[in-house]
Amino acid sequence: MTDTFTLPANGSFSFAGRNALITGAGAGVGEAVAREIHAGGGHVAVSDVNLEAAQAVAHSLDPSGATAIALTLDVRSKQDFIAARDAIVAQWGRVDIVVNNAGHAKRTPTQDITPEEFDEIVQINMRSVFLSCQLFSEHMREHGYGRIVNITSLAGQNGGTVASPHYAASKAGAIMLTKYFARYLAGSGVTVNAIAPGPIDTAKARLSAEQIARVEGEVPIGRFMAVGEIAAATALLASDRGGFFVGATLDMNGGLYLR
Ligand SMILES: NC(=O)c1ccc[n+]([C@@H]2O[C@H](COP(=O)([O-])OP(=O)(O)OC[C@H]3O[C@@H](n4cnc5c(N)ncnc54)[C@H](O)[C@@H]3O)[C@@H](O)[C@H]2O)c1
Repeated sequence: MTDTFTLPANGSFSFAGRNALITGAGAGVGEAVAREIHAGGGHVAVSDVNLEAAQAVAHSLDPSGATAIALTLDVRSKQDFIAARDAIVAQWGRVDIVVNNAGHAKRTPTQDITPEEFDEIVQINMRSVFLSCQLFSEHMREHGYGRIVNITSLAGQNGGTVASPHYAASKAGAIMLTKYFARYLAGSGVTVNAIAPGPIDTAKARLSAEQIARVEGEVPIGRFMAVGEIAAATALLASDRGGFFVGATLDMNGGLYLR
């Protein structure tokens, strides 16, 4: 989080007494969301397929481990989701908030995408949302409260600016799963919503200077989104005060797509 337009976590929403699981939280958006919820007084389980990255974030939040823990969670694995739920229940009693953030993009030329690569991208970006919502809907329903936020993409709404077919299709599926589970859980105290971001600062590390300039030229407000901005919107949807959002997809694209 070294970009000049990073907004620091400020804990605008209260998460006192809430326990949150964030996937892909060892870096980028997931890390920023973990910092935001922790700044609001919540307990955070910082999970990632890269345990060392998750440990670094959790340790920086609370070296004692009382309010922030690190977990290994590969979102392709149903077993990892179950183990994460059990670890949080053992530590803090229940899971109140899940942010399905982990995602992966590949820019393989269309004719070179293998069936295996297609499946991998779908597993990380879409099947993960199903596994997580399926598992935590039962857990949260039992407790009569829950907030699930799925980080999807502009690519899943209109194909995006540079997205590949498997990425765009998997994110579109994640948006539809958000709507499905929102209705499935409506009235139970559990809400499910999505955010559809356009280009985020975290992507700059993967782009050339020319590509960055091109994207900045395409976005009507002329810049990438700061991770602090998406963390703040995620905090709203994940907070008690976000209870009337049901199956919504928040557009955060700097004006690239208006509907
Ligand atoms: N960066 C962008 O411009 C952009 C735009 C639209 C949507 N998004 C979405 O926002 C989310 C966060 O993106 P980011 O830019 O912070 O990504 P990032 O690459 O900076 O961080 C992703 C994190 O997810 C972890 N991860 C990767 N595969 C995983 C797996 N199988 N299981 C668990 N963790 C895994 C990585 O280790 C990493 O810590 C993703 O879902 C991404 O698709 C990003």
